[in-house]
Amino acid sequence: MKKLIAANWKMFKTWSEGMQTARELLVATRQDLPADREVLLIPSFTLLKGVGEVFSGVENYYLGAQNFYPEEQGAYTGEISPVQLKDLGCSFALAGHSERRHVLGETDEFVGQKVRFGLEKGLNIILCIGEKIEERKKGQVEEVLHRQLAKGLAGVEKDIEPQRLSIAYEPVWAIGTGEVAGPKEIVHAHTFIRNELAEYFQFYKDIRILYGGSVKPDNASQILGLDNVDGVLVGGASLKAESFSQIVLAE
Ligand code: PGA
Repeated sequence: MKKLIAANWKMFKTWSEGMQTARELLVATRQDLPADREVLLIPSFTLLKGVGEVFSGVENYYLGAQNFYPEEQGAYTGEISPVQLKDLGCSFALAGHSERRHVLGETDEFVGQKVRFGLEKGLNIILCIGEKIEERKKGQVEEVLHRQLAKGLAGVEKDIEPQRLSIAYEPVWAIGTGEVAGPKEIVHAHTFIRNELAEYFQFYKDIRILYGGSVKPDNASQILGLDNVDGVLVGGASLKAESFSQIVLAE
């Protein structure tokens, strides 16, 4: 299974900044990209077309969207559909990022609706899950992950091709805070998730489980070497080509 190194640019970058960073990233990493890695860039909607052009025809570099609405088309002002995303060359999309859940109020059920619909329309989905600090303090990590997986994966085909679906474990308290989860916490959560996936999917061993939350050049190698960590989802440190390249190439 190839490791997936994903950049979530969130609501950052104008067109020219985005194009420059995407080009610099390609120059810095393409030649030396290890054979067992794939790179995924997830910019704002406004940059998808441009980043797609920069990556066009380059093997192992993919384009993803941060969000979508679970309908093909219709009167949903301000929303974007999986069909429109695929048309722009997106092959991946996030569902249930913690900022969408906790800042924008998305429910577990709505996230599940997106996972099902996005998969049905041909996108590869990265379902993001993770506990808040108060939930961790109350010993509810497994309960939260179990619930978010149950609602997020309801109705997904049991024999889904494993590359179509990934899970990103992103403890909310580690996102954008500089406070990375420790190796023990990561391995515990990822092993729990792997065991849960066994309940849903035939090919559960090959479904990628990414870690996200303050991944930086200086902790990427260690995190990528942990059991059941099949990639990383990087926010802040993905905004500069230099730091993201170091993560992409981390040995
Ligand atoms: P961070 O964000 O790397 O800035 O913590 C991760 C994410 O939100 O996916």
